[in-house]
Amino acid sequence: MSNLTSRRDFLRLLGVSGLLTFTGGVLSACGAQTGQKGVPAAPGAGAGAGGASTPVDLEIAIKSVQTEVPIFTGKPTRVWTYQAQVLKGDAASVQALPDTYLGPAIRVRKGQRVRVQYTNELPGNAEQSIIHWHGLHLPERMDGHPRDAIAPGKTYTYEFQVTDRAGTYWFHPHPHERTAAQVYMGLAGLFIVTDEEEAAAGLPAGAYDVPLILQDRSFDKDNQLAYISDPMGSGMTQIMMGFLGERIVVNGKADFTLPVATRVYRLRLLNGSNSRIYKLGWADGTPLTVVGTDGGLLEKPVQKKYVTLAPGERIELWADFSGRKVGDELTLRSLEFSGAEGAAAGGSGNMGGMSGSGMNMGGMSMGAAAGQAPALGAPLTVLKVRVERQEPETLKLPARLSQLNFNRVYDAVNRDNPRSFALTMRNMVWKINDRTFEMDGVTEGETVKLNTTELWEFVNQTNPGEMTDPMGMAHPFHIHGLQFQVVDRRVMPELAAGWESVREGYVEEGWKDTFLLMPGERVKVLLRFADHTGMFVYHCHNLEHESAGMMRNYRVTA
Ligand code: C2O
Ligand code: CU
Ligand code: CU
Repeated sequence: MSNLTSRRDFLRLLGVSGLLTFTGGVLSACGAQTGQKGVPAAPGAGAGAGGASTPVDLEIAIKSVQTEVPIFTGKPTRVWTYQAQVLKGDAASVQALPDTYLGPAIRVRKGQRVRVQYTNELPGNAEQSIIHWHGLHLPERMDGHPRDAIAPGKTYTYEFQVTDRAGTYWFHPHPHERTAAQVYMGLAGLFIVTDEEEAAAGLPAGAYDVPLILQDRSFDKDNQLAYISDPMGSGMTQIMMGFLGERIVVNGKADFTLPVATRVYRLRLLNGSNSRIYKLGWADGTPLTVVGTDGGLLEKPVQKKYVTLAPGERIELWADFSGRKVGDELTLRSLEFSGAEGAAAGGSGNMGGMSGSGMNMGGMSMGAAAGQAPALGAPLTVLKVRVERQEPETLKLPARLSQLNFNRVYDAVNRDNPRSFALTMRNMVWKINDRTFEMDGVTEGETVKLNTTELWEFVNQTNPGEMTDPMGMAHPFHIHGLQFQVVDRRVMPELAAGWESVREGYVEEGWKDTFLLMPGERVKVLLRFADHTGMFVYHCHNLEHESAGMMRNYRVTA
């Protein structure tokens, strides 16, 4: 399909459905569509090698820009956003969400070859950036390592084949120290992969397949995004604990209501918040039917009273509204939980008394930096669903969804002696095995062999003696470059209360790339390092922690 045809089709689609908005437009800064390389070809890189002549199924230009969007009545909100345009291939591969700071959803089929020309057009000349494809299994130079960040005005060319199974992946910036701020300003989008196995599963599609990106944000009285304003002063708490916004925004909208018909929906939930963890449940107690996790469909649906969704994680629900009446309204809540923000010295692990404004840390007030933001674990409304139309439904919940082809613990080269990673705070700095991020730094303990299966154990330790956080806090942990399995969880008995308040919401029957570690919890994951050598990062996906250095490299060697 030529650019012209696909462009025209896409615009027609816009006119007909009115659901999609074209955010692309001006791409003059990218210049030629044949893709000049913004990066020198690095050894082992996929991009440099083939050059512009490599045939691809889809070529997209994406730029990060500053713009304004209406979030509230009155003044528009200044945001940073990804704008995308299909240069070659199916124009429907880029679906913008209307009137939001969120980037478009990119939809691809497994097996497709994709080229992305990413141009950094963020304001000023200092704001480096790079796109990371969260959850995808890619060569190192395609993954968006912080060392590949480019300055404003520059273009980075990605070229890769999508080898991952169908699932809800996403993309966001990953520059050194600036990921949290850039995501907060609006830079994030979905990367949705489809495949034949998924198509055969018989799930709701089209308008009944709805992405829901959950974030929390604070706004000032002029409707502008408010973030950590005084990092050396009162904002220090927000850097150490993570930024919590005052209100929930869904798909970039405040007070989001999803209009539905009396049908079954596939809801793809992404926790795109910087640090807020959700414990999602319907207010009326209806259980959740989970069909997918970070790395795609489960083998079979799983029923949950609630689902715990930490930053970076995705969950897919089979949401059946067919028994509802027109006019019904449902509320998806984040239910109360405890212990995620550690516990005050001498505390019981119950954070009931700790509000965002003025945390009481063993008698020491941490200031009012967090304003009116609900505390981590405080109950809150996430979104509403309103049943608006009667429509017949024939879909039945499939008994089987997919085949997972899991690895076996037995095959791990270190099955009796897992590689161990301690998450700690030392002198008010979060660390992984006593280290923080170094651009090219990687230790022996972080070096693995290609084509091996390994067991890694993460231990969320308490921090006795650390005034600000003696009991640790929850860390959503993410490993780049692959999907893995969570194979074991346990908790220190003295911190079991907080853990008990979220653990039934863990969904670990599927492939994962991010998992939550509550304080005192230890989690074993099983990883297989296939196909790609090189250096990838692993980090806490509490983005304030990540940007403050709670990140390391691991290296896969031949
Ligand atoms: Cu979404 Cu390095 O992560
Ligand atoms: Cu990632
Ligand atoms: Cu963390």
